[in-house]
Amino acid sequence: MKLIIDTDPGVDDALAILYAAAHPQIELLGLTTVFGNVTVAQATRNALYLVERAGLDIPVAEGAAKPMALPPFTPSHHVHGPEGFGHLPEMTPQGTKIEESAAEFLVRMAREHKGELVLCPIGPITNVADAIALDPEFAGNLREIVFMGGALDARGNITPYAEANTYHDPHALDIVLQSGANIRMIGLDVTMEVLLTAADFEELERRDPEHGAFLREMSHFYLEFYRTVGAEGCGLHDPLAVMACVMPNLVGLEHTPVDVVLEGPEVGRTRRATGRPDIGVALNCDGADIKRRFIESFGG
Ligand code: BDR
Ligand code: CA
Repeated sequence: MKLIIDTDPGVDDALAILYAAAHPQIELLGLTTVFGNVTVAQATRNALYLVERAGLDIPVAEGAAKPMALPPFTPSHHVHGPEGFGHLPEMTPQGTKIEESAAEFLVRMAREHKGELVLCPIGPITNVADAIALDPEFAGNLREIVFMGGALDARGNITPYAEANTYHDPHALDIVLQSGANIRMIGLDVTMEVLLTAADFEELERRDPEHGAFLREMSHFYLEFYRTVGAEGCGLHDPLAVMACVMPNLVGLEHTPVDVVLEGPEVGRTRRATGRPDIGVALNCDGADIKRRFIESFGG
C-alpha cells in the first residue's frame, strides 16, 4: 500500500511513523509536515530525524506553519515536550527537506499514483486543504484519506468539545470534509480505547531495543501529561490511524456526513451533519486486540 503520512512529530507521531516504516505491507512514499504539537520547523526536523532513524530514504516536504483562518496557534509543548520528543533534547538530522512544499508534493504524488495513494494526516489537516486548493482533481486522485482527528460521541481532549488536530485548523478540515474524497476519520472515539502504559513501553523496548528504548525514553513526559488528565496511559492516536490504513476492519465505522464547528466555544468540534458527502467515522474497536497487534509489530 502506497502511503504518505502528514505529521507534526510529536510522541505518538513518532510511534506511528516507526510502525509504518517497519510494516511489510506499507510502502512509505514520503512525509509531509505541519505545525501542531510543535512548530513546523521542529516538525520537519523531527520528521527528518525519524526517517533516518528508521533507515528510510524518502522525501520530507515541509507544509503549513499556521492554520488557514484562525489566529496563530500555540504548540502543544506541555503534551509533547519542548522539542516534540518528550524530555529528549533537540535531534539533529543529516538530511534536509525537499524544495517542494507539502501541498505540491502531495498533488504530484496523487497524480503519479492515481487511485493508489492513501494519505494519512495525523496533525492539523491544513496541507491537505492546501493541496485541494492547488489541484481540483487532488481529492479524486487519492485512494483514501484516513485522518487522525475529531471526536463524534467522545469528549474532546483540548477542550471539552474538540480534539486537538481538528481544533487547530477547523477551516481546513471543513474543506477536506466537503471535497468528495474517500475519507475515514479515526478520532478519540476509538483512539482513547487503546491506552499504552509505562509497562507497554517497557515491552516495546524488550522486543526492539533500538527503537523501543528511544520511544520509551520520550514516553515519560507524554505519560506524565496523561496522568494529569487522569489517564494511566497515553492514547494510541496516530498509530491507530496508520494501522487502520492497512487493516480497514480494525475499527467499526458509522457512515455519516460530518461537519466541524468553525468558531465560538465549541470550535473544532466534529458533528453529524446533513447535506454533504458521507465519510466513515470509527466508533468502535477491540482495544486489547489493537494494542497487542501494535506491540507485536515491534522487533518481529
Ligand atoms: C492528536 O493531537 C496530537 O497531540 C497527537 O499527535 C495526535 O495527532 C491527538 O488528539
Ligand atoms: Ca500528531
